[in-house]
Amino acid sequence: MLSIHNVHKSFGDHNVLNGVSLSVKKGEIFGLLGPNGSGKTTLLNLLMEDLPYESGTIMMLDESDHSNLTIKEKIGMVPDSDERIEDLTGLELLQFIRSVRGLPKQETNRQINEWLKLFDIWEDRHRLLQHYSHGMMKKIQIIAGLLHKPEFLIIDEPTNGLDPDMINMVRHLLKTLQSRGITILLTTHYLHFAETVCDRVCFIRQGEIIQHETKVGDLLKRTHASHLNEAYTVVTDFGEERMKIDAIMEDW
Ligand SMILES: Nc1ncnc2c1ncn2[C@@H]1O[C@H](COP(=O)(O)OP(=O)(O)OP(=O)(O)O)[C@@H](O)[C@H]1O
Ligand SMILES: [Mg+2]
Repeated sequence: MLSIHNVHKSFGDHNVLNGVSLSVKKGEIFGLLGPNGSGKTTLLNLLMEDLPYESGTIMMLDESDHSNLTIKEKIGMVPDSDERIEDLTGLELLQFIRSVRGLPKQETNRQINEWLKLFDIWEDRHRLLQHYSHGMMKKIQIIAGLLHKPEFLIIDEPTNGLDPDMINMVRHLLKTLQSRGITILLTTHYLHFAETVCDRVCFIRQGEIIQHETKVGDLLKRTHASHLNEAYTVVTDFGEERMKIDAIMEDW
């Protein structure tokens, strides 16, 4: 479904992705995990926004040119961004996306209403996006990414801003989408979510893959961890960082 090979990306002289390779198989839920600033969003943006990159190859749905409209129609994208179009309400944004994508009006409007109710923002549909909370905006972004029924869903931080009930609902939603044959690539810092939803994960740190694609169960065995949280600490080698905190606290 997705094959990334030796991709390098920098902003000015700041190297953000240093030879990243990974592949996502059709039908799986794949988690890209790693610390803040490790390059997860940048990598997804290369896929979502067709950002230029210095070298390497990216194949999505067997195509290297993913600006191709036929490919774009098969991909759903949910960004981790709080940008809002100021003058639009939640409902207007979704209807605008429906119209730009050329989706059937009556049928899609009916679905939009159902999604809004499912995500518990039906009562807020006529409010301006600029007045939405972070979680409300995330819900609208998830709905927007699903309206055209993509084959491949890319979600940057699906749980950011969501309350525990909504996180459970999104977990169930992603599993349901998977059961319908949809492939999902996500990033998350919420490792319990990753452990319960992802088939395979990989870890990135400072723009380099430090743990290649692995089944969650295999990683737990290999790192002698009972939860992904522990495995993450082992793989990202967070121990030293924690020691630094201890040192600071001595003089607190
Ligand atoms: N447009 C940009 N211009 C300059 N530097 C950027 C830009 N976008 C990202 N970066 C830098 O690239 C690095 C990776 O950022 P990125 O947002 O990809 O990290 P991330 O893994 O998604 O982090 P987080 O977990 O906090 O979301 C950071 O050092 C960031 O400052
Ligand atoms: Mg990010």
